[in-house]
Amino acid sequence: MTTLVGYASAKGSTRGIAERIAAELDSAGHDTDLRPCADITEARDYEVVVLGSAIHNGRWLPAAADTIDRLRPHLDGKPVWAFSVSSVGATSTILSPRLARYLRRATPEPRAVQELRATADVRDHRFFAGAIAPGDWPGAGRLVFRLMGGRYGDARDWTAIDRWSATIRATAAPEGRP
Ligand SMILES: Cc1cc2nc3c(=O)[nH]c(=O)nc-3n(C[C@H](O)[C@H](O)[C@H](O)COP(=O)(O)O)c2cc1C
Repeated sequence: MTTLVGYASAKGSTRGIAERIAAELDSAGHDTDLRPCADITEARDYEVVVLGSAIHNGRWLPAAADTIDRLRPHLDGKPVWAFSVSSVGATSTILSPRLARYLRRATPEPRAVQELRATADVRDHRFFAGAIAPGDWPGAGRLVFRLMGGRYGDARDWTAIDRWSATIRATAAPEGRP
């Protein structure tokens, strides 16, 4: 199975998750290419696509959103898995647990993922928590981060990420293919 894992990352935590997913798929026998979104020019030759982006201000980074626009003709009907890396993941968070519980319910899917659903066969979209270091949020953002109960550090839940990769591994075959 030829698989593309594309990612957009500002500070590296999304890249780390993409690397882990690609390594898992590779070890399961997928012929896997890992690429930053900005370097992806086509997806025609891939049977499965995994796309992920860091979230800034509620949105995928422009490099990831632009990739969807660019690849639209190649993604038509293709099995795609999408992930977003933000302060609040499905199973871990950088923010206070209480605020995270609220945000998990209240945060809509990023617009780019909604657009992806209109084109590709999006099998799943998952939020993972990423990492944040002092200085990542400039100026007033730092204060807001503190008020939200934010703690600097790495909140990536590798067990959840591996479990999700295993789901892709198990169900990646296009419809009708064993
Ligand atoms: C400028 C900026 C804006 C951010 N906006 C959001 C946001 O709207 N929602 C959120 O949950 N996290 C937000 N974050 C946190 C990042 O999504 C998180 O740190 C993620 O791990 C970044 O991924 P990266 O290391 O691949 O860049 C923001 C971070 C920065 C630096």
